[in-house]
Amino acid sequence: MLLDPAPKTKREELYGRDRELWQLSLIDRGAGPLVLVSGIRRIGKTSLVKVFLGERGDDHVFVDGSTARRWTDLANALLEKGLVEDSGVGGSDSSLFERVVEMARRRRGKRFLLVVDEAHEMSRSGLRLLEEIAKAVVYEGGGVHLVLVSSAPGLLMDYLGVDKPGRALRTTHFYEVRLGPLPRDAATELLRDGLRELGVSLPDTVIEKAVDFFGAIPGWLVFFGRLVAEGASPETAYRLAVDEALEEIRRLAPRSQLLLHVIAKGYDYWKAAKQALEELEGKPISNNGFRKAVLHLERRLIIMKKRMGEYVITDPVYARAALKLKPEEVLSLLSRRRRGAGGVGGSSRAHNS
Ligand SMILES: Nc1ncnc2c1ncn2[C@@H]1O[C@H](COP(=O)(O)OP(=O)(O)OP(=O)(O)O)[C@@H](O)[C@H]1O
Ligand SMILES: [Mg+2]
Repeated sequence: MLLDPAPKTKREELYGRDRELWQLSLIDRGAGPLVLVSGIRRIGKTSLVKVFLGERGDDHVFVDGSTARRWTDLANALLEKGLVEDSGVGGSDSSLFERVVEMARRRRGKRFLLVVDEAHEMSRSGLRLLEEIAKAVVYEGGGVHLVLVSSAPGLLMDYLGVDKPGRALRTTHFYEVRLGPLPRDAATELLRDGLRELGVSLPDTVIEKAVDFFGAIPGWLVFFGRLVAEGASPETAYRLAVDEALEEIRRLAPRSQLLLHVIAKGYDYWKAAKQALEELEGKPISNNGFRKAVLHLERRLIIMKKRMGEYVITDPVYARAALKLKPEEVLSLLSRRRRGAGGVGGSSRAHNS
């Protein structure tokens, strides 16, 4: 079903992604061995990868880093597939870790894809294993390709030590497939066909308005289409989408929420945004502190710097939600956190193994 919230798995249900499927197919013609599939939330990363893998037969392991977060989850998937041998009784954890890296280093012959969805969500030890595998495939690998999928590629690069002094991985080692919004006609067709499947027909003007409102982001179109098919009015569906985005924004660090708010209000250049944020917080912010807040959002692809230097919010629903944030509420959260932890508090991500 087209308006199913689950990722697509069949090519005929994947709208407007021929170019990206072709880009992924270059893995079989020399691209890689380290691949990054990136894009904002709901843009269709998992769908793209699943359709691609579904057409390849059995030459891959797919792990969801948001649920299988530990390094042993990855190792177990490889054990199950027989890619790493079970050393039997007495085999230590460290020897299993090493054997996985060794497999990535030594495996020759037929190509094999190790795919980790939402890779930035893995635990610290999971990320350490990913880094070791990445180094092994780049510097010594043969048949193994590591495909990392992420809605926060900047964060992932940071966790993997990419471009850091003394570390081995570089941005240039990654073959990146970056997903943007769907082409407009594909987005329109997706919504129209999806609704038709459910026996609903909407006037073209309503479909076109929805595609605009949701910036041709497929996950939002599915969200909207389902609600409307269940009897909600388009206006209600819009409101519920903004509420959902607001929930997600509220999980960000308080200062990042405020920054998003001022950018949404139009203070979108560095200096203007910094001043507006200082006004909200009622005190000067160091350049470093401000840079951190910007990075926090950039690494998650929530904002992007445009050519003229202005920052834009990448998801139009987030932009609307950010306007609805109540700065007073965020500020009181900020001061509570400062009193409690003695700092602004960045990501609340738990790095447990
Ligand atoms: N090209 C597409 N054609 C049709 N439906 C799509 C397409 N891309 C995504 N979808 C649908 O949009 C929703 C979100 O897709 P998906 O889960 O693949 O996105 P994602 O980028 O992996 O999201 P997240 O960041 O939440 O993991 C799903 O309902 C999926 O079926
Ligand atoms: Mg996904």
